[in-house]
Amino acid sequence: ISLKKSFKYVIIGGGVAAGYAAREFVKQGLEPGELAIISKEAVAPYERPALSKGYLLPEGATRLPGFHVCVGSGGEKLLPEWYAEKGIVLLLSTEIVEADLHSKILTSATGGMFEFETLIIATGSRVIRLTEFGVQGDHAKNIFYLREISDADKLVEAIRAKKNGKVVIVGGGYIGLEVGAAIRINKFDVTMVFPEPWCMPRLFTKEIAAFYEGYYANEGVQMIKGTTAVGFDVDTNGEVKAVKLKDGRVLQADIVVVGVGAKPLIDLFKGQVGEEKGGIQTDGMFETDVPDVYAVGDVATFHMKLYDDMRRVEHVDHARKSAEHAVRAIRASEEGKCIEEYDYVPYSYSRAFDLSWTFYGDNVGDLLLFGDPNPASSQLKFGAAWIKDGRIVGAFLEGGTDEENKAIAKVARAQPSAEYLDTLKREGSSLHISM
Ligand code: FDA
Ligand code: NAD
Repeated sequence: ISLKKSFKYVIIGGGVAAGYAAREFVKQGLEPGELAIISKEAVAPYERPALSKGYLLPEGATRLPGFHVCVGSGGEKLLPEWYAEKGIVLLLSTEIVEADLHSKILTSATGGMFEFETLIIATGSRVIRLTEFGVQGDHAKNIFYLREISDADKLVEAIRAKKNGKVVIVGGGYIGLEVGAAIRINKFDVTMVFPEPWCMPRLFTKEIAAFYEGYYANEGVQMIKGTTAVGFDVDTNGEVKAVKLKDGRVLQADIVVVGVGAKPLIDLFKGQVGEEKGGIQTDGMFETDVPDVYAVGDVATFHMKLYDDMRRVEHVDHARKSAEHAVRAIRASEEGKCIEEYDYVPYSYSRAFDLSWTFYGDNVGDLLLFGDPNPASSQLKFGAAWIKDGRIVGAFLEGGTDEENKAIAKVARAQPSAEYLDTLKREGSSLHISM
């Protein structure tokens, strides 16, 4: 008896991109039994961003099934029943450990074999561990990383167990700022530590960071900059007690959360598929250099038409859109047709405390701040524009309305000349943005 199961389409990974791809397959017309999603997670695709925000709150916390895809972009929730109704095979708690792209066979950790005609790689990213920076001891109890819902559950359990304790957050990026805020709302004493001179250096300039650092300080979150964790003190139960810093300081800790970056999960395909900029190289349709093999979401390096550059994006909006684009391209190619190249304007956002920012475009060139970046003000609203070669190439807005956020998206797409900003400045502190 052959244990091999065959599908027309297989998606490896059951995260954001997989869920949006499934919905698009159905939109395009899918026969029962044609599509399988193979995921090492135990639950159907969900909106990962919830894990560092609503999932960690002390009251009214977000829980499944409330944030299954595609609720994050205003669509209907795809509950596990939805996949069953559509005849989509959802293979959960199933890790693929071997992928032979040439013979089109995937093998799971338990020996299951899956054959595909067309494959979509949507394995996302894994966390970078401190051991990769030569820091040992991160396996102690109550040291957490955050990527999947199982990680979030362990963190929630520790938050309940260590009430009013001390938390050290290692890393000053997305995870650091969002989880730091959520844990502070749980009334912990929170200290963030990161090596850079200001937080979120991937995107923020010093001026933008100053607003968030001021706000966090007012909320009682401490930030230790310019140094990092080099080790941990652990008690006889194996529980973390303190974080040792490079500058010699020792911070007491009941819980440690580490967010020091992510790395695309592409090891399964090494040597079989072209790579670029740390990801799997794809064309404007997300097809790799192996026929019938596509890659979307965090793992895909693609031609960003707007900047005529190869880029990789680690944000949810692109995971959704790249997945939909790949499915449309797959279906079109089956009919001998071609669709337009992916044409993306980078978009990311974050929410923490009462703050909420959006960013569209590219953060290169000179920065111009507008509005009032004062963390103590009652309005909590300001913006910033990145200007390169006389054009606005990136736009950032804290506290914007839906309309204003849409307007800055248009700005990032159209790249108007920098004089456009004079119009904005004339609007004064009301910061009314339109285009
Ligand atoms: P994603 O990581 O969603 O899914 C990959 C899936 O593949 C997982 O289910 C994984 O288990 C599975 N998998 C991997 N290898 C496998 C294997 N060998 N076999 C089987 N399954 C396998 N972005 C943003 O724009 N705004 C935000 O607020 C946030 N917030 C946020 C919070 C947290 C906690 C994280 C970790 C990330 C964010 N992001 C974000 C980033 C965003 O969530 C991310 O870019 C997308 O989830 C990427 O979607 P993918 O589908 O590519 O990977
Ligand atoms: P990140 O890249 O945003 O931040 C990494 C941070 O790690 C750096 O800013 C730095 O402060 C710190 N760091 C780097 N090297 C270090 C070292 N040796 N020791 C200590 N600190 C060090 O990554 P992240 O915050 O871990 O996020 C992981 C992934 O999740 C990313 O793909 C991110 O895009 C995604 N994510 C996105 C959002 C969002 O878009 N709102 C929210 C959460 C997570």
